[in-house]
Amino acid sequence: MSQQASQETILEVRDLVKEYNRKKVLKKLSFEIHEGEILSFIGPNGAGKTTLLKILSGFLTSDSGAVYISQKEVTNQLDLLNKKVSTVFGGGNGFYKNASVVENLFFFASLMGLRRHTIPEKIKHVLKQVELTEHQDKKVGHLSMGMLQRLHIARGLLKDSPILLLDEPTNGVDAEISHSLRKIIKNIAQHGTAVILTSHILQEVSDLSDQIFLLYHGEIMFSGDLSHIIAASGVAYIDRPATLEESYLGLLAKIGGNHA
Ligand SMILES: Nc1ncnc2c1ncn2[C@@H]1O[C@H](COP(=O)(O)OP(=O)(O)OP(=O)(O)O)[C@@H](O)[C@H]1O
Ligand SMILES: [Mg+2]
Repeated sequence: MSQQASQETILEVRDLVKEYNRKKVLKKLSFEIHEGEILSFIGPNGAGKTTLLKILSGFLTSDSGAVYISQKEVTNQLDLLNKKVSTVFGGGNGFYKNASVVENLFFFASLMGLRRHTIPEKIKHVLKQVELTEHQDKKVGHLSMGMLQRLHIARGLLKDSPILLLDEPTNGVDAEISHSLRKIIKNIAQHGTAVILTSHILQEVSDLSDQIFLLYHGEIMFSGDLSHIIAASGVAYIDRPATLEESYLGLLAKIGGNHA
């Protein structure tokens, strides 16, 4: 999973800016992700994480900056972004509750324009990827939070896109489900998909990420792999390394100090 020189850059973001009502909520963000990598954005509520994912998935336009997918510029080309990037925002809505898991996936696969005869096989494959096969005939309204979250990911995988965005993928699920979702996410990346996720669950971020970006008021304040982030925080113990959570709190205190 960790980055090798030979891996292709799938997505590149340069100096991305987004304003809401003349207030900058993303301030010149730049980063890139390679195939098979997992990159995480962490940061306080309102830092701009979801806004960034919405721009990358073609739901929102940016005000300046550029986005490239496999070296081709796709900035604000909403249809193209939508086609190339799969996004999972999660939550309780977005499916037909009286229809089954398979029926819902069939519907969305048709909407996405998958060729009809390829859909059953594709659905079988994505259900296996998210370990939902045995629940395929359940009504969506009867699914647990964890199953629903896996169904969101399954829908995201229908598109076969090289980039998967996950906004707080384990929000509201218990520790066991969260663990199984992490395994699923790792597995998706191991098959070559570039995964970008946001999360407030720092144990999950430290477990999954090849690169971590700390976003604060729309700015990337720190970035690097886990050991780099921990070192940058300056938080250290005699008998063990600091956790990401301890380091994150240390970094926020530093940022707060500098902004005071
Ligand atoms: N539609 C909107 N109109 C105006 N301002 C918005 C809109 N959506 C988001 N914002 C503002 O943009 C900023 C970034 O919000 P965003 O939802 O991207 O943060 P976030 O990092 O995802 O937060 P959280 O951790 O709570 O999910 C916030 O100040 C938010 O209030
Ligand atoms: Mg958010």
